[in-house]
Amino acid sequence: MSIESPLSPAVYIVGAGPGDPDLLTVKAQKLLAKADVIVFADSLVPPQILDGVRPDAEVIPTAEKTLEEILPILIDRVRSSKSVVRLHSGDPCLYSAIQEQMQALFDADIPFEIVPGISAYQLAAARLRVEFTVPGLVQSIILTRMSGRTQVPDAEELSSLAAHRSTLCLYLSARHVETAQQKLLQHYPTDMPVAICFRLGWEDEKIRLVPLSQMAEATQKENLLRTTLYVISPALNAATVPYSSHGINLEARSRLYDPGHDRLFKRNSDCP
Ligand SMILES: C[S@@+](CC[C@H](N)C(=O)[O-])C[C@H]1O[C@@H](n2cnc3c(N)ncnc32)[C@H](O)[C@@H]1O
Repeated sequence: MSIESPLSPAVYIVGAGPGDPDLLTVKAQKLLAKADVIVFADSLVPPQILDGVRPDAEVIPTAEKTLEEILPILIDRVRSSKSVVRLHSGDPCLYSAIQEQMQALFDADIPFEIVPGISAYQLAAARLRVEFTVPGLVQSIILTRMSGRTQVPDAEELSSLAAHRSTLCLYLSARHVETAQQKLLQHYPTDMPVAICFRLGWEDEKIRLVPLSQMAEATQKENLLRTTLYVISPALNAATVPYSSHGINLEARSRLYDPGHDRLFKRNSDCP
């Protein structure tokens, strides 16, 4: 999709990806290069992401601001005929508090558009060099979090989600890691691999692959508390990464590229 030049006055809610500027989408890059105003979550978006913005762009960090302070900025700038990029980490559809921003923009008759980004769980899979859906082993991914200031509904309680033994990506939970570990251990075995993914795509990125029984201890030992994603998955047994002693143990394989798999079905079945 081409981007008009100059941008129309509107709010562009843009996913910045996990931190590495090379993982911005082309559309995000183009919008950042053209926008009059950039309003960004500075605690989760590293400054390098803004390298390509116009020298005269107004750049407004929001880590210290409330929603009541942010909304008038977005609305006033667009009413002054400016284009605004509202930059969120990862993909805006996950834990970005955009619903209330979009409702307020809609109510104020301000045009807005969403541009997706790469979420932390996707970069985790890439760094770990694993597929989170391995046939015969695991075919579902759960993206969830522990309750914090935002309560998780009772029906989504971590121990009940753990019962599925799926690939489980746990956001926003490092400060509650001991409780998370206890809840996960109600259903996953103690030696289930866990990837502790700290600040993926940032210069101080760290990834540790440990058994579930050591998830809390390993997090606390290295203080991997701020901006950490946990991936709990049987698929991690296949990780060919230097982060642990886990070796290749992949017996399952996809039927999609199996020589015995009928090509006619291949075209129409798993991968339309
Ligand atoms: C407010 S949420 C934003 C999630 C974001 N929208 C996404 O799609 O990745 C912040 C949480 O996402 C995870 N996260 C975001 N960026 C990360 C990164 N670069 N490395 C590891 N975890 C990250 C962490 O669990 C962090 O506590």
